[in-house]
Amino acid sequence: MKLKLIIAVVTLAAWSCSGNKATMDHSGGKLSIDPAIEGKVDSVLKLMTIDEKIGQLNQLTGNGETTGPITFATEYQDAIRKGEVGSMLNVNGAAYTYKVQKIAVEESRLGIPLIFGYDVIHGYKTIFPIPLGEAACWDLDAIEKSARIAAIEAAAAGQHWTFAPMVDIARDPRWGRVMEGAGEDPFYGSLVAKARVKGFQGSSLADPSTIVACAKHFVAYGAAMGGRDYNTVDISNRTLHEVYLPPFKAAIDAGVGTFMSSFNELNGVPVTGNKEMVKDILKDEWQFNGFIVSDWASIREMLVHGIASDDYQAADLAMNAGIDMDMEGHIYIHQLKKLLADGKITEKQIDDAVRRILRIKFMLGLFDDPYRYCDTIREKELILNPRHLEIAREVARKSMVLLKNDGVLPLSKKLNTVAVIGPLADNTEDIIGTWSARGEGKDAVSVLTGIRQKLPNTKVIHAKGCDITGDSKAGFAEAIATARKADAVVLVVGEAAMMSGEALSRAFLDLPGVQKDLVLAINELKKPMVVVLMNGRPLTIEWMDNAVPAILEAWLPGTMGGPAVADVLFGDYNPSGKLPMTFPRNVGQIPLFYYHKNTGRPRVETERYTSKYIDSPNTPLYPFGYGLSYTSFDYSNFGISANEIGMSDTLKVWVDVTNTGNYDGEEVVQLYIRDMVGSVTRPVKELKGFEKVFIKKGETVKVMFKLTASDLAFYTRTMEFKAEPGDFKVFVGGNSRDLQELSFRLK
Ligand code: GLC
Repeated sequence: MKLKLIIAVVTLAAWSCSGNKATMDHSGGKLSIDPAIEGKVDSVLKLMTIDEKIGQLNQLTGNGETTGPITFATEYQDAIRKGEVGSMLNVNGAAYTYKVQKIAVEESRLGIPLIFGYDVIHGYKTIFPIPLGEAACWDLDAIEKSARIAAIEAAAAGQHWTFAPMVDIARDPRWGRVMEGAGEDPFYGSLVAKARVKGFQGSSLADPSTIVACAKHFVAYGAAMGGRDYNTVDISNRTLHEVYLPPFKAAIDAGVGTFMSSFNELNGVPVTGNKEMVKDILKDEWQFNGFIVSDWASIREMLVHGIASDDYQAADLAMNAGIDMDMEGHIYIHQLKKLLADGKITEKQIDDAVRRILRIKFMLGLFDDPYRYCDTIREKELILNPRHLEIAREVARKSMVLLKNDGVLPLSKKLNTVAVIGPLADNTEDIIGTWSARGEGKDAVSVLTGIRQKLPNTKVIHAKGCDITGDSKAGFAEAIATARKADAVVLVVGEAAMMSGEALSRAFLDLPGVQKDLVLAINELKKPMVVVLMNGRPLTIEWMDNAVPAILEAWLPGTMGGPAVADVLFGDYNPSGKLPMTFPRNVGQIPLFYYHKNTGRPRVETERYTSKYIDSPNTPLYPFGYGLSYTSFDYSNFGISANEIGMSDTLKVWVDVTNTGNYDGEEVVQLYIRDMVGSVTRPVKELKGFEKVFIKKGETVKVMFKLTASDLAFYTRTMEFKAEPGDFKVFVGGNSRDLQELSFRLK
């Protein structure tokens, strides 16, 4: 029975059960159940054999691409024809997805369309800054817009589904995947998660320019011991609920359509087989209506974890945990029927998994038109279009963080000669970072080119100086000679793309290779100089902060990174980024994050028996929320509406922020609280609000916040989520360190 017949059957069924047009819209808020769609899903389910149902739970990689250890090389066309595949990943392009979809729709018995998934993490072809860098912009509209454009380009290229946003909180910069998320803070990470889900999914999945998002990696993947990818996670239930779960809940509240389970074990049980996490919290407590896909072969990897003795037991654990789809594990397709026959699982469980997947396929409109994402003309029009590139440049500018400036920045556009030096100066491959989908270095613009484009009448000279890695200093002499000729030097150093991302953890966080020596050698010339950092994580660069006059954190800024760096360096954009993750002074301090506990012996320099190192300060090099501007901001008239509030009251908080410098600029005004005494110990600070405000030079803006008891809630001694009466502090400022404080009491 081909799809046309299915459509006829299910449409008839839907009309009979709902009597109105199927609305496939979901305008924000948790993914809702639409009776009209459910009627259609029921009708398809009734037509399916058990083999076809199990086939829907099977996801294979295509195109020969792998984003994980190769498990099986599968002749997937035949599997699709037999109805053994519900989804493909790594199949790209309107033409290619059309070809593969056609097999499913026209050559399988029921013609159920495939859903194509891909890692569209920070852009599809137009690549935006890596997500950690993008999070430094503290502009949720810009973050949403970035995801929107990624979705438009991915949808035009045949993708229905992105394996993003990655919402793992990360407090250990040794972990390579910090580049993929929004940093260390659960409050901010939750807001970024919502923005990214809304950007990808738009206001309706029925819109062919939207793609279904995927909150990953559920859960606590970022807490891997030692910052080593895939490593063991052993955390308290309280930390799990206070730090790692919130961004996933936020994604559900934003209507995310899918989840992905993580590789890691959590307190002894791999999440992919963890019923308490997936079924009990995600599906039952949070009432998640979408579907959850395993990570690459993470069902199969339960054998390696040592919690399943064979494929059969791995499938049993995963299906009973609530995992709906098996990504490249080749386990469900071979084991579920046996488990069903043995009574280990029920057809109801299988039906529920199939229903969730078909629900999303219907919401995407794939049953109405399986080829609606396969328009090669639309693909050509939308991919890498100038508007997208301009927005990528705008987001990249906003993401950059000015870490130090002794006054050398902004550079004058009237300089005669500018030297652009370093292994990342004329680099277009690493600038787009990892997880850059179909992005290509050939489409990117380097810093050198960006500066040359901006200064057509200036002599812009270049020397690489050294490679990103390696110990050769053979290029130093040329670099020093080049710098000598210049009125100002721009040094572009950092990490290669393949130094952050999956399976790319680092035990040392300094500049790789001999780049540090290059920076110090050029710095000896005492020329006006700025170091532009390109990196996928916080680095330990205290030596740089001590030595050089200016440092701009550019992250891996994407396709338009070069022009964006030039915009900032030469004053066409006043940097406004703030760090979403702490920069430690050294690896020994890790984990180091701003919302730490006070302990019973907080550090006192002069006291021996206090919590400190004998060979390092406790304080970070740059704190969470930190970032400078070309102007300066003064905070005054900090006030609160009461010194005491009840549980149902609202505390108003206000502060005047004055631009006291010579440039118009944006400031991220941050609001923190501290619960002084709780039934459990509370962090010394917690971000509870922020506002990014544009203030013209010399002008003052009053920034207002509101706090209620729900903002003060936490998991109490008995794990109840609520506020407790007592004394609080409230802080405002431009980062998590330099703050003004007031006190109030909650009755
Ligand atoms: C990878 C990653 C995951 C990605 C998936 C598909 O191993 O862990 O983030 O979405 O496989 O590429």
